[in-house]
Amino acid sequence: MTDPRMARLGQRLPGLLLKTEPADLEFYGRDWTRRWTPNPIAIALPAQSEEVQEIVRWAVEERVGIVPSGGRTGLSGGAVAANGELVISFERMNRVLGFEPVDRILTVQPGLVLEALQRAAIEHDLTYPVDFGARGSCTIGGNIATNAGGIRVIRYGNTREWIAGLKVVTGTGALLDLNRGLIKNSSGYDLRHLMIGAEGTLGLVVEASVRLAEPPPPSNVMVLAVPAMQDLMQVFAACRRSLSLSAFEFFTDRALEHVVRHGAQDPFDQVSPFYVITEFDAPDEARHALALEVFEHCLNNGWVNDGVISQSSAQAASLWRLRDSITESLAPLKPYKNDISVRISAIPAFMQAMREIFEREYPQFDIVWFGHIGDGNLHVNVIKPAATSDTEFIVECERVTALLSATLTRYQGSISAEHGIGLVKKKYLAGTRSDAEIAMMRGIKRVLDPFGILNPGKVFDPA
Ligand code: LAC
Ligand code: ZN
Repeated sequence: MTDPRMARLGQRLPGLLLKTEPADLEFYGRDWTRRWTPNPIAIALPAQSEEVQEIVRWAVEERVGIVPSGGRTGLSGGAVAANGELVISFERMNRVLGFEPVDRILTVQPGLVLEALQRAAIEHDLTYPVDFGARGSCTIGGNIATNAGGIRVIRYGNTREWIAGLKVVTGTGALLDLNRGLIKNSSGYDLRHLMIGAEGTLGLVVEASVRLAEPPPPSNVMVLAVPAMQDLMQVFAACRRSLSLSAFEFFTDRALEHVVRHGAQDPFDQVSPFYVITEFDAPDEARHALALEVFEHCLNNGWVNDGVISQSSAQAASLWRLRDSITESLAPLKPYKNDISVRISAIPAFMQAMREIFEREYPQFDIVWFGHIGDGNLHVNVIKPAATSDTEFIVECERVTALLSATLTRYQGSISAEHGIGLVKKKYLAGTRSDAEIAMMRGIKRVLDPFGILNPGKVFDPA
């Protein structure tokens, strides 16, 4: 280890596991965005919070930035280390520390993979209901950092709703124990919620107390083929009126093409421009029959022209693949991702405005629409044509994002619904948050991270 700063870290923490091989720097230095060239100084893999605190004290002294790292499935560059930062990977801090049945609280380390957390909940006959496609690799620490949402937000809300307490190391190395699992706590500012969604810029989560929920009732999954964009919200209204929904998602024919090429099974004979996948409680025959009635009602109104309802959990899983594997199937094509939200009521008008922008500005690009239409969150992915260079493509996409950002301001939406601002959406933060808010965010950052070492350059640049 030649870098004297790393040698000094080694002296402070002789037992700390460090990785400095080029392949490791590359592997841990990036996320799913693949836009930046990873260039961390090293990777630290602490095994306990005391080590994390000591690393932070070292980073303050050396003025080295720290990039916290979970499963690196992020889509906004939040976990990218391209400027000589030290990556702290939480992969060794991945244990369930305990379960308190009366509180229904699971205490976990930040590196625990979401799917492992969900399994741990099932072992206690409960559920951790936040869920999305990256469940097999993303970690709870990363989910907290972005306030991850996913496919069940319409019933269960975002990660924020489920975090009962957090232990966090601030930018001075202090350990904060926030909220301690309390349900009621009106004792001043709730710093826990400040940490959730802060993308590691205010503190490093070293332990989380996660609330678990009652297991969900038996459910069915229905996929509907929808002929026109304006019918999507009619179908949503009809489903929501009669069924108890736990998910309501949409995707387009273009998305379907990509997932089918990726191995998913197309349940339909005919192509439709839009599809809806919805999951709803079906504890008995009557509820199942009700879903058929809703389907027929939509059919009679011309809002859908085909549909399939799962008859088994295997079929439900196969139908979910149509939606769950979209992001993964697109990843090799390096799509430019938009992750935006508006109020549910604004969806029809906003979608139309967005469609006009894309048709006018991007006639030459393949656009894949999908997302969580039931909670107002749309993903619009622009696929890079093979002949266009990465740089040209980003420049072109950013030009259009500026137009999109202005439209979002008009509709009072957000440039990042659930992926975070990271590096990717930094330029557009001011379209979603006021100057006064951004100034306050900077002020908060100065209090919790006075030396600016925590995930520097993410969300906003130093003033
Ligand atoms: C999804 C991720 C990309 O919804 O947010 O699939
Ligand atoms: Zn999503």
